[in-house]
Amino acid sequence: MTLTRRGFLAGAASGLVPAYCQTCAPPAGGTPLPFSIPAGQTNVQRKAISALTATEVNRLRLAYRALRNLTNSNANDPRGWMQQANVHCFQCGGNPAGSDIHQSWFFLPWHRAYLYYHERILGRLINDMSFRLPFWDWDLPASRNLPPIYRPQTVSSQPNSLFDNLRDTNGGQAMPASIFPANSNPMNSPNFPTFGGSASSGGSLENTIHGLVHVWTAHRPMTQARADMGRLNTAARDPIFFKHHCNIDRLWAEWLRRNPVARQNPTALAWLDRAFTFFDENSRLRSIRVRDVLNTATNLGYNYAPGAALTSSAAPKRFDLTASQQQVVKLTAELKKRLLTPSDLNVTRSLVVEDAKVPTATGLYNVFAGAPPAAGTEASEAPNYLGYIAVIVGEHAHAARPASLILDPKKAFADMASTSEGAFLTYAPAGAAQGTRLSFSSVYIIEQ
Ligand code: C2O
Repeated sequence: MTLTRRGFLAGAASGLVPAYCQTCAPPAGGTPLPFSIPAGQTNVQRKAISALTATEVNRLRLAYRALRNLTNSNANDPRGWMQQANVHCFQCGGNPAGSDIHQSWFFLPWHRAYLYYHERILGRLINDMSFRLPFWDWDLPASRNLPPIYRPQTVSSQPNSLFDNLRDTNGGQAMPASIFPANSNPMNSPNFPTFGGSASSGGSLENTIHGLVHVWTAHRPMTQARADMGRLNTAARDPIFFKHHCNIDRLWAEWLRRNPVARQNPTALAWLDRAFTFFDENSRLRSIRVRDVLNTATNLGYNYAPGAALTSSAAPKRFDLTASQQQVVKLTAELKKRLLTPSDLNVTRSLVVEDAKVPTATGLYNVFAGAPPAAGTEASEAPNYLGYIAVIVGEHAHAARPASLILDPKKAFADMASTSEGAFLTYAPAGAAQGTRLSFSSVYIIEQ
């Protein structure tokens, strides 16, 4: 079936599900068997791509070679490369019944379960159930480019199974330097809704670094929603997708580990009992609940070594700011003084914006206190730059849900917010002179 790009966009804009979606529906699988811990499953630590031995790299290449071969030999095998990619497509708006797990609290657990079955399928294809997915450790500055083993088109004159031609980063270019700033780091999120989302909004991890790595991998600068990684419906066709999400999964574990008292997963049954279906390594349809994926070492056979390159673990102190009907943020004189006094070197101060109405088109948007800087100024160098929003959508209709953001309350923010006019927040794509005012439900500062 051929549809023009214009056709997709028009379908998405009018809220209709384009016919394209039908092509990513999974094969019939009958009644799913509930998840149970597979016999013989043992706990194996997942490693960083940069730490893999030559033997492990070879095993990874063989596994993705086998995955691609399966699509070529039987396009309907639910374990093949394209069927695996379609699982993601279907779940990101391709499902006509409308079940988009993005931009909500199901984002983290759904992707965890998806990676688990994907990992077992790869293990089965190479006859090694101790195979574990590696993670792309872009939290470390040294890993902020496409991992070298994913870049060459061929290896020993054979096609590289980890290669994807639809990337603008196969040359090893570096990610933008402003990608993981200390104060606007999503790892500073004080609670699960701001970190991983709620029933009705997305978390800061999803809407910053997660989206940025997607869109950037496919296209630089991030002004074009390009396949594969730059669109949700095609993202999982790129083998790097699973390693990107493996790191997202690791950061969830790490965020909890850093402060298990202040930071907790949701306890609502609507979250814990929500079930998803996946085909397992034997092509059996399985049903797995959110509660089944919370203890990875016991249930899913993997864990991560502690210690992502991140910030402090202290319990956050919260200072509420007032925001008027017009979404103008105001500081008390006392809070201004606090913000203008340099904090202890070990203290991180972040500005938390809950339920912000984020843009709905794929791209990188910079956030400012007041208007964006004049054209020609590097956004992240403007004194009123607070952080960024990275949005990734696909070609399907999506629920436009709000998102939480973790920003950096800089001096310019403190100055503006303490005047009688207060400060409004704006966002704008790179280089745009006009900003859009950001609306939200609440705003506060945390110190930790
Ligand atoms: Cu389901 Cu990174 O998107």
